[in-house]
Amino acid sequence: MLSTEKQYLQWTENETSRQARWLSQSNHVPPARIVFVDDKTTADEAYRLACEGTSLLWRGDFHNARQLLQALGRRIDRTNERSELRKIKKAANKSAANKSVTAKEIPNLFHQQRQMQAQRSRILSRLLLELDAGYISKLRRAPDMSAACTAAFGELDESCVLSFRDLQGALGAAQWHEKGVPIEPLNLSVFPHYGVFAPTRHEYVQLLLDAPLPSACDVAYDIGTGTGLLAIILAQRGVKQVIATDLNPRALACASDNFTRLELSSVQLQQADLYPTDAPLADLIVCNPPWLPAKPSSPLEYAVYDANSAMLRGLLQGAKQHLAEHGEVWLILSDLAEHLQLRTRDELAGWIADAGLTVKYRLDTKAKHGRSQDNTDPLFAARSAEVTSLWCLQSA
Ligand SMILES: C[S@@+](CC[C@H](N)C(=O)[O-])C[C@H]1O[C@@H](n2cnc3c(N)ncnc32)[C@H](O)[C@@H]1O
Repeated sequence: MLSTEKQYLQWTENETSRQARWLSQSNHVPPARIVFVDDKTTADEAYRLACEGTSLLWRGDFHNARQLLQALGRRIDRTNERSELRKIKKAANKSAANKSVTAKEIPNLFHQQRQMQAQRSRILSRLLLELDAGYISKLRRAPDMSAACTAAFGELDESCVLSFRDLQGALGAAQWHEKGVPIEPLNLSVFPHYGVFAPTRHEYVQLLLDAPLPSACDVAYDIGTGTGLLAIILAQRGVKQVIATDLNPRALACASDNFTRLELSSVQLQQADLYPTDAPLADLIVCNPPWLPAKPSSPLEYAVYDANSAMLRGLLQGAKQHLAEHGEVWLILSDLAEHLQLRTRDELAGWIADAGLTVKYRLDTKAKHGRSQDNTDPLFAARSAEVTSLWCLQSA
């Protein structure tokens, strides 16, 4: 989770000691080495410094900072393309053609790809911006960013330094929040907040509409509600009381915002690790947990990566004691982890059985999102085979 401890960055500029609050959405510590860069700094020079571990405090034109970031990204991609990525692609293509790939190779490819992405993100995060209290920028041509930053990072009455990448994340999230993510089958939009899983790939919505509700369905839980999407579906399908939980306070604020917009009064929210407390037993428990068993590398990744499948296993283990008689669990789960050999189908079946549950039926849908169609992705073979399922489970 995001560190709440206040940290400060100190530096000397024009022989004056300066300090500002350090904001990092990836929980990076304040940089030890910074230099000042501006419109005259070349992209090659900036790239060299950033690769060496030096952070670059931008003092030029706002739009030129964005261009410098893009130029840095291109340089990283070119370097990766020349070295690691070539190796990765070669092995991935072998796997696509079903040639002699050892069982170990696919998970290795996945971990190498993640490492490269993490390294890319570390280098790009070294381009920094200073903002005055209230997130005001003195840079030439800087837009008004205070509303977007306040929504993403909270009120701030002192100056701060943050990475240009985090700032772009906040500006991007503000746009999503304004226009919303259309959920076609429901004929409505949900409005994600910064740091909350945006359901831009929502093939599974149709599964939730197609699955027959248990014959008595008065109380349902939505575990890990994010924007509140699954709770909204259940409420729209007529479930009388829906209790939605999430660990992430940003998700709870976001879901609450979406429920209010849709005037849904039948949904309650609780901050909880998995199950709600003091709640009636559930006729239905729905959950779309993070689908890849790997350690999140930043708080923003908690919706996708689930270290050691802790959430998935915890959900299954706790289900029976929270289910009413004849209750059902609808587990939404992509099998990408299986194609990446990070989890086997037998392991999943074992966890279901160990939790005293049995499979009543399963509905499947093929992944249609952009990454599953991108044949330049080194893991295309695994991603294109991805199927997302609604597993309907009940007490054995
Ligand atoms: C893949 S997202 C799904 C969000 C939403 N249900 C949807 O389908 O769009 C997983 C969600 O689970 C939440 N989460 C992760 N671990 C959790 C836990 N132990 N307890 C409750 N929520 C958790 C994350 O914060 C995230 O919002």
